[in-house]
Amino acid sequence: MKNAFRFVAAMTLPLALMAMFLVSSCEGPRGPAGEDGLNGTNGINGVDANETCKQCHTPAVVDQLALEFEFSKHFYGEAAFEEAGNTTCSPCHTQEAFLYVVANPTIATGQFVLNTATPPKYSLQYSTTSSQALGEIRCGTCHSQLHTTYTSADAALTTTAAVPMVMWGATKTINLTQDGGKSNLCVKCHQPRAMSYSSSFTNGNRVQYDSLVLAPSTVLYDSAVGNAFPNKIIPSYRTHVHYGVVGAVFAGQGGVQFTGSASYANSAHTTVASCQDCHMATRSGRAGGHTFMVQGNFNGCNVSGCHSAAPISSSSTTKWTTPRANQKAQLDALAAKLNALGGGTPILHSDTDTESNLWAGLTTGNWDGYLDIYLANTNDNGYWRNPSTSGMTSAQIAINNAKPKFPSLTARDIGALINFQFALRESSNGIHNTAYTSALLANTIALFP
Ligand code: HEC
Ligand code: HEC
Ligand code: HEC
Ligand code: HEC
Ligand code: HEC
Repeated sequence: MKNAFRFVAAMTLPLALMAMFLVSSCEGPRGPAGEDGLNGTNGINGVDANETCKQCHTPAVVDQLALEFEFSKHFYGEAAFEEAGNTTCSPCHTQEAFLYVVANPTIATGQFVLNTATPPKYSLQYSTTSSQALGEIRCGTCHSQLHTTYTSADAALTTTAAVPMVMWGATKTINLTQDGGKSNLCVKCHQPRAMSYSSSFTNGNRVQYDSLVLAPSTVLYDSAVGNAFPNKIIPSYRTHVHYGVVGAVFAGQGGVQFTGSASYANSAHTTVASCQDCHMATRSGRAGGHTFMVQGNFNGCNVSGCHSAAPISSSSTTKWTTPRANQKAQLDALAAKLNALGGGTPILHSDTDTESNLWAGLTTGNWDGYLDIYLANTNDNGYWRNPSTSGMTSAQIAINNAKPKFPSLTARDIGALINFQFALRESSNGIHNTAYTSALLANTIALFP
C-alpha cells in the first residue's frame, strides 16, 4: 500500500500550502453574507480501494503466488529473451505477442497462405507485429484484465476459447471444454508447429500427414541427390515439429496416425482432467500452484472424482510406473528402428546432460529428438554430413564434407521421426494420454521390419 500513501501525501501537500497563502494575505472589511446555494446532487459512493485491492494484495494471494511463480520456467526460462523481436516465434514466447494473437484471431489465424513470390511459396500466418513482440511471460500474460476493475474479477484468464491448431494451418481445432475451457489457455502456446516441405525445391507447404500414411514408401529424401530437386525434405539437426507438443498429445491430435492393429483412442484425462488439475495442484515441495510443475506432486491425481478411491501416492504406485515403463519401452523400440536407418550408426542425437536435454532419462539412449547431423556451433560433433552448407564458413564446409552422407528417408521414416518426437517431448512418458501415444508408437514400430 506504499504507493497509495504516497499518493495521499502528494495530494495534501499543495492544499496545505494554498491554505497558508490565503490566511496570510491582506483583508479589507467583511461584506454581508450571501444567500445559501442550491443543494448539490449526492456524489456516487466511491469504491474502497483498500478493500478490493486486498482481494489480491495479501500475503496469502498475490505475494504467495508471485513466490511460487519464481519457480516456474515461464518466469526463469530464457526463451522470452531469445525469441523477443521475432514476429513468428514470439506469439508463444512473449507477453505482448501472445496478447496480440489472442486479440487478433483473424489476422493471426495460423493459416498457411501463398505469398506473391514467383513461383508462389507457402508461409505461415501465425505472427505478431514488430511493435508487439516482447515481454517476458508474467502475471499479465495469462491474466490480461489485471488492474482494470481492481477487483478479483481481474484474475480472469486471457483466453479459454477453442484453439485453432497452428500445425494444421488452423484447419483443425483443439477444444478442451472441461473446467470452463481453462486448458485451452495452455494449449494456445503448448501446441506443435508445422513441419514444412523444403521451400527451395517445393512450394513450402506443410507436410501432409495423410500422404505420409497413404504412401509410406515414397522417398522424400534421396541421399544420392542431397540438397537438390526433387528432394522434398532436407534433413537437418532440427528437423522437428517444435517442443510444445503436449497440448496436441493431450487432446489426442497431431500425430502421424499410421494404420495398424492398435486403434486410436484417448485416455480419460483428455475429457475429465485439465492442465491445471495436475500442474497447479495443491502445492507440495517445489511443485503445484503457480510453479506449474508436477514433479513429485501427486495431490492433483487424488482429488475427489479422480484417483481418490485408489490414490496414486508416490512414484512407485503402479498407475504411475506401468504406463511410464510401457512408453519408455516403446520409445526405445522406435529409436532402435530409426537408428537402424544409419546402418550401424544412430541417426538420432543423444545427450546425457539433464540441463541441455529436457528429455534425458525418458529413453535408455537419452535421445533428445534431434538428428545427429553436423550444425556448426550447435552440434559440432555431429556424425552425419549436413546436406545443406548454407551459412557455413569454408573451414566448416571442409569439416562437414569429411562426414558420411545422411541416409535416405521415406514418408514412413519422416512420420516415424515425428511420432518419436511427439511421444518423447510430451515429457510425461505416457501420463498425459497413454491410450493415444501407445497406439501411435505401436502402429509406427510395426511398419519397420
Ligand atoms: C485481481 C487481483 C488484483 C487486484 C484486485 C489488484 N491487484 Fe495489484 N497486482 C496484481 C498482480 C498480479 C500484480 C503483479 C504482481 C507481481 O508481478 O509480482 C500486481 C501489482 C501491483 C503493484 C505493483 C506494480 C509493480 O510494478 O510492481 C501495485 C502498486 C498494485 N498492484 C496496486 C494495486 C492497487 C492499489 C489495487 C487496488 C486498487 C490493486 N493493485 C488491485 C493483482 C491485483
Ligand atoms: C504465452 C504462452 C504460454 C502459455 C499461455 C502457457 N505456457 Fe507454459 N510455457 C511456455 C513457454 C514458452 C515455456 C518454456 C519457457 C522457457 O523455456 O523459457 C513454458 C514452460 C512450461 C512448463 C515447463 C516446461 C519444462 O520444460 O520444464 C510447464 C510445466 C508449463 N509451461 C505448463 C503450462 C501450463 C499448465 C499452462 C496453462 C495454465 C501454460 N504452461 C501456459 C508458454 C506458455
Ligand atoms: C505455437 C507456439 C510456439 C511457437 C510459435 C514457438 N514456440 Fe518455442 N516453445 C513453445 C513452447 C510451449 C515451449 C516449451 C515446451 C516445453 O518445455 O514442453 C517452447 C520451447 C522453446 C525452446 C526451448 C526452451 C527450453 O526450455 O529449453 C526454444 C529454444 C524455442 N522454443 C525457440 C523457438 C523459436 C526459435 C521459435 C520460432 C522459430 C519458436 N520457439 C516458436 C511454443 C512455441
Ligand atoms: C501461464 C499462465 C499463468 C500465469 C503466468 C499466471 N497465472 Fe494466475 N492463474 C492461472 C490459471 C490457469 C489460474 C486458475 C487456476 C485454477 O482455477 O485452478 C490462475 C489463478 C490465479 C488467481 C486466482 C486465485 C487462485 O489462486 O486460483 C490469482 C489471484 C492469480 N492467478 C494470480 C497470479 C499472479 C499474481 C501471477 C504472477 C505472479 C499469475 N497469476 C501468473 C494462470 C496463470
Ligand atoms: C493427469 C495429470 C496431467 C495433466 C492433466 C496434464 N499434465 Fe502435463 N505433465 C504431467 C506429468 C506427470 C508430467 C511429467 C512431469 C514429471 O515427470 O515430473 C507432465 C509434464 C508436462 C510438461 C513438461 C514439464 C516437465 O516438467 O517435464 C509440460 C510442458 C506439460 N506437462 C504441459 C501440460 C499441458 C499444457 C497440459 C494440458 C493440455 C497438461 N500438461 C496436462 C501430468 C499432467
